[in-house]
Amino acid sequence: MTVPELFEMKQRGQPVVALTAYDATMARLMEEAGVDVLLVGDSLGMVIQGHDTTLPVTLDQMVYHSACVGRGRSKALHVVDLPFMSTTTEALALRHAARLIQEGGAQMVKLEGGREVAPIVAALTAHHVPVCGHIGLLPQAVHQLGGYQVQGRDLIAAESLLADALSLEAAGASLLVLECIPASLAKDITQQVTIPTMGIGAGAACDGQVLVTYDLLGMSPRNPKFCRNFMVGANSIGDAFHRYVKAVRDRSFPAAEHSF
Ligand code: KIV
Repeated sequence: MTVPELFEMKQRGQPVVALTAYDATMARLMEEAGVDVLLVGDSLGMVIQGHDTTLPVTLDQMVYHSACVGRGRSKALHVVDLPFMSTTTEALALRHAARLIQEGGAQMVKLEGGREVAPIVAALTAHHVPVCGHIGLLPQAVHQLGGYQVQGRDLIAAESLLADALSLEAAGASLLVLECIPASLAKDITQQVTIPTMGIGAGAACDGQVLVTYDLLGMSPRNPKFCRNFMVGANSIGDAFHRYVKAVRDRSFPAAEHSF
């Protein structure tokens, strides 16, 4: 899977299927099931390390998990999160992205934030680093947001998120995660940008879907409204991944009950 292929999928209306991956075995099972994008998310701070937030995750830890995933994958696009405070200047963002690519095997880096991070996105893409943006609910901003709540519910917040999406696209982002925003807003953003969007709690109209794998497997203590437990009725983890891929491709997931 390459960046141009993702754009072609958007143009064809073929949903992009993504999951978070933190180790080689899961990465291999996901690929066998047909997952297009493996995201080494800093959600590993919560589901692997047991923290309450993603904030304690370090760059070294992201490099470590990314390299593990790299040994399990062969064809899915390998996207890795730049963790909290790792992109506060362009120079830092470039140095940290280089480590994720050179030591961790990443093919694209993801960073949270809207138009305020557009200069960082522009610096990365100017140096040939593909970037995935991430707007809506920003787990790295949990203390500022006051919790993990749906974003963009009122008109001003919705317009602001649309402006963020357009600004990230103009800065060169090639993929955009929309987390926990109303489905109608996600649809609007998806129609207005040329880059593929991947929703998590953002409804069925996004160009693709991503989930935290431990949520999909029913293994995390939280049970988010936007997730379905794909282990129900499955006979193995690989089977659950196959069911997820099928449900995203035929757009039976997410259903209205998983959306805001
Ligand atoms: O860290 C992560 O797993 C993510 C997903 C929620 C998209 O950013």
